[in-house]
Amino acid sequence: MEPSQVTIIGSGLIGRSWAMVFAAGGFKVKLYDIAQQQLTSALENIRKQMKELEESGFLKGTLSAEQQLALISICTDLKAAVEGATFIQECTPENLELKKKIFGQLDLIVGNTVILSSSTSCLLPSKLFTGLKHVKQCIVSHPDMGNGGCRRQAALEDTVKTRSVEFDIPEKVKAKVVKPLAQVNPPYFVPLVEIVPHPETDPSTIESTYALMKKIGQSPVKLNRETEGFVLNRLQYAVISEAWRLVGEGVISPTDLDLVMSDGLGMRYAFIGPLETMHLNAEGISNYCERYREGMRLVLNTFGPVPEFSGEIEQKINQAMSEKIPVVPKVLDARRKRRDEYLTGLAKLKKQMKSD
Ligand code: NAI
Repeated sequence: MEPSQVTIIGSGLIGRSWAMVFAAGGFKVKLYDIAQQQLTSALENIRKQMKELEESGFLKGTLSAEQQLALISICTDLKAAVEGATFIQECTPENLELKKKIFGQLDLIVGNTVILSSSTSCLLPSKLFTGLKHVKQCIVSHPDMGNGGCRRQAALEDTVKTRSVEFDIPEKVKAKVVKPLAQVNPPYFVPLVEIVPHPETDPSTIESTYALMKKIGQSPVKLNRETEGFVLNRLQYAVISEAWRLVGEGVISPTDLDLVMSDGLGMRYAFIGPLETMHLNAEGISNYCERYREGMRLVLNTFGPVPEFSGEIEQKINQAMSEKIPVVPKVLDARRKRRDEYLTGLAKLKKQMKSD
């Protein structure tokens, strides 16, 4: 039987990642971009990554790297790219107007069964999809790598001006401004996907997207409704805020703060979430609340306001972090490589422990 086809719109970091994950799942992948050069370098990069993953025994799926590569094709014609697709994953720069334009174009050319999905990190479905004829088929599937977060629209527009090839940037300059890729493909090792519906998304779109993500080995979670920052970034920001306040109030040094997470809380959170942790740390949740309710409320009531993330505290944290890891491309890249190696090792461990 002919494998199902998915189309990826935008072949940057995330588009490439999705292409690899879908090919590993045995899907035919059409990769679309407005820039031929982006597509060519995407294919080269995917080939390199797949070969490396295969050599190190980390290639996902049952097919060889060559077989997976044979499933991926590139295309600069939108209509041809979406023809025959059952699922379309949009991965263009994080800019509302640009994404609305793309979904508007897709709305005119797709049929009534294909799912239109966006990788957006923080643009709400109600902003992206309202008014589309095929709104019932629209959804956000946000791959959560915890790398970045939500940025203000103004900052995003700057990014688009400097990083996207949508605008009038000369070919020579484009090659330089597109950001370098991480060596390891993040969704390979951080499988979470937040599925966020528009208020008018059909329940079958949510269920099919969820099932598809499971099928390709990702770890989907369903949000019942949209909320600013979705869930991962809300949790991440809660932790960052308190970290900022504790360092700002001089309670702990920046490096020790990080250790509290990496050698403390984080040890269990890679396997067990905060709610199950509560459940296990007492005789169930109700018993935990009975024991710790008052204490938790007492501590939580001492939390300060939302930090400004600027000024003296920023300088203090920046100085400490820069002493440990100088902000020099070579050093930062080496450290990112190390971070990706940690993730790879952790993914391997999680897989082993689950199969026990
Ligand atoms: P990127 O800048 O690496 O890639 C964007 C790609 O879109 C480029 O190849 C560009 O040529 C292409 N493009 C621009 N205009 C287009 C158009 N009109 N039609 C088709 N392609 C077009 O961006 P990245 O990092 O891959 O992000 C893509 C999306 O994924 C964004 O919405 C981002 O917020 C989201 N995301 C990013 C994460 C990250 O860590 N980078 C994590 C999770 C989600």
